[in-house]
Amino acid sequence: MTSTNELFNISGKVALVTGGTRGIGFMIAKGLVQAGVKTYVVSRKAEACAAAEEELKQYGEAVGIAADLADQEQLSKLAGEILRREPKLHILVNNAGASWGANFGEFPESGWDKVMDLNLKSIFFLTQALGTALQAAGTDVDPARVINIGSVDGMTSPDFGNYSYSASKAAVHHLTRHLAKHLSTANINVNAIAPGPFETKMTEHMLKVKGDEIIKVIPRRRTGSESDAAGTTIFLSSAASAYITGAIIPLDGGFSTTR
Ligand SMILES: NC(=O)c1ccc[n+]([C@@H]2O[C@H](COP(=O)([O-])OP(=O)(O)OC[C@H]3O[C@@H](n4cnc5c(N)ncnc54)[C@H](OP(=O)(O)O)[C@@H]3O)[C@@H](O)[C@H]2O)c1
Repeated sequence: MTSTNELFNISGKVALVTGGTRGIGFMIAKGLVQAGVKTYVVSRKAEACAAAEEELKQYGEAVGIAADLADQEQLSKLAGEILRREPKLHILVNNAGASWGANFGEFPESGWDKVMDLNLKSIFFLTQALGTALQAAGTDVDPARVINIGSVDGMTSPDFGNYSYSASKAAVHHLTRHLAKHLSTANINVNAIAPGPFETKMTEHMLKVKGDEIIKVIPRRRTGSESDAAGTTIFLSSAASAYITGAIIPLDGGFSTTR
C-alpha cells in the first residue's frame, strides 16, 4: 500500500478553481496552494483576480485570470490560455456560482438564464474545453479530478424562492454522475461537493436574517469553515480518493439529513 503521507500528497499538481477569488472558491484555492498545488483562480473582475493572486502567493504558486464564464467566448479564451500555459491540468474545481431569489409569481426569465448559464452550462463547457489537459494529467493510479460544487439545495427543497438555483444544483449533481461514467476511461474522476451554509457574500443576507434559525437545524450547530472546504477538496484531489467517482458528498454538518 502507498504510505499515508503519499496518499494525501498533492504537491506538484496544477489546479484551476473557478470563482476562486472569494468565498468557498477562495477557501479551496488557499488549501490547494498551501498543499503545494499551482493554482489558477478565475472570476469576472480583474481587480479581484489580482488581489486573490497576491494573497495566495504568500503560500505558494497562484495565478489569477479574469473571465466571465457565463459568456462562451470568454470561457473558450480562458481555456485556451490554460492549455497554452499548462500541458497537464490535474484538478478542475467548478465552483463559480450565482443565485437568484424571487416570489414564484414574479420570478423573471433573466434570473433563470443567469443562474443556469453559470451554475450548469459553464461547468459542462469548461470541462469539455479542458478535457485534453485533464486526460494528459490523469493516470490509472491517480486520475485527474473534476470537482463540481453543487449544493444541499440540489438535494432538498429550499425554503426560499431560489427556483433556478436549486434546479441548477440538482442538475450539477446529475451531470457529475453522467460525466463520471463517461470520463472514467480517460482517467478523469468527477465528483461533487454539496455544501450546506457557509458564510460568504452569497449567503450574507440570508444568514443575517435567518442565521440563528438555520444554525439550530444543522446537527453540527455551525456553518462550514475554510478547513471543511479545503480538507474535502484535498481529499478529492488526492490518491486517497482514486476509487471515488460520481459521488455527491454533502459538506453540511448533517443539514441535508434533517430536511
Ligand atoms: N455559501 C454557501 O453557503 C453555499 C452553499 C451551497 C453551495 N454554494 C456554492 O458554492 C459556490 C461558491 O459560492 P460562494 O458562496 O463562495 O459565492 P460567492 O462568495 O458569491 O463567490 C462567487 C465567486 O464566483 C465568481 N463569479 C460569479 N459570477 C461569475 C462568472 N459569471 N464568471 C466567473 N466567475 C464568477 C465571483 O467573482 P466575481 O464577482 O469577480 O465574478 C466569486 O469569486 C457556488 O457554486 C455556490 O452555489 C455555496
